[in-house]
Amino acid sequence: MIDLTGKVVLVTGGARGIGAAIVRGLASVGAEAAFTFRSDPRPAEDLVSELGGERCFCLHADFTAPEDTRAAWERALAWRGRIDVLVNNAGVFEPATIDDSDDAWHQAWERTLRINLAAAADLCRAAVRHYRERGGGIIINIASRAAFRGDDPDYMHYAASKGGMVALTRSLARGFAADKVLAYVLAPGFVRTEMAEDYVRRHGEEGILGEIPLGEMAAPQDVADIAVFLASGRARHATGTVIDINGASYVR
Ligand SMILES: NC(=O)c1ccc[n+]([C@@H]2O[C@H](COP(=O)([O-])OP(=O)(O)OC[C@H]3O[C@@H](n4cnc5c(N)ncnc54)[C@H](OP(=O)(O)O)[C@@H]3O)[C@@H](O)[C@H]2O)c1
Repeated sequence: MIDLTGKVVLVTGGARGIGAAIVRGLASVGAEAAFTFRSDPRPAEDLVSELGGERCFCLHADFTAPEDTRAAWERALAWRGRIDVLVNNAGVFEPATIDDSDDAWHQAWERTLRINLAAAADLCRAAVRHYRERGGGIIINIASRAAFRGDDPDYMHYAASKGGMVALTRSLARGFAADKVLAYVLAPGFVRTEMAEDYVRRHGEEGILGEIPLGEMAAPQDVADIAVFLASGRARHATGTVIDINGASYVR
């Protein structure tokens, strides 16, 4: 039985999609959950109302700006005075083709790498410094199947950002294990969220499902259940590991 009573978690992009399922999952086993949102405050506020304002806290953060990223960590930390588990979930999946203008191509690469990788690295850095003082902590980074399999030509920058996240997490696990820092990667294939919807609309659900032996896309809950288990601290010796969540569509 997992019990995170007394633990404080920070989930980025926690107002919708996979992030919201992770916030709900962690709260359901007793954690106090801070989470960030960027665009619309309403889903974030609704989630706080649903889970209870005394146990849940939402804060605005735009990870395109390094100073916003730093401020988000500081505000989340100030909420309860500590953070035990960081979940880097926020991310974008935006196309960039090799026929785009140079400017558009560069902007897309810089934006995706900033949000998906550099902001996550900034938060990992802050977390490790905090965990070193506190005697340990957990980092869970949400990457993607694309980190290993690659992605379509229009999403090479997305795949590269997720590959970077895997290397980042493995380095953290190796580099800071002695400080009792545990770091994991979750690598989902298709998960039913707004991020996947647009792609499914354009490419057709039948073809996508046909490539998944399990015959269905994952639900956000499938990712959240594993995040809750890792957040429990019961997988210490699995630190540095990647857990694939893709219905056997890409088996390594
Ligand atoms: N869905 C899939 O098939 C799939 C597959 C593999 C990996 N993943 C990964 O899983 C994670 C969650 O994806 P999802 O499917 O839940 O996507 P989603 O529904 O599109 O949610 C993306 C989240 O990221 C946040 N976000 C986007 N840009 C941001 C920015 N500039 N600053 C701060 N936050 C920002 C969003 O915040 P707002 O809502 O406030 O805008 C939202 O909470 C991502 O890292 C994604 O790459 C998803």
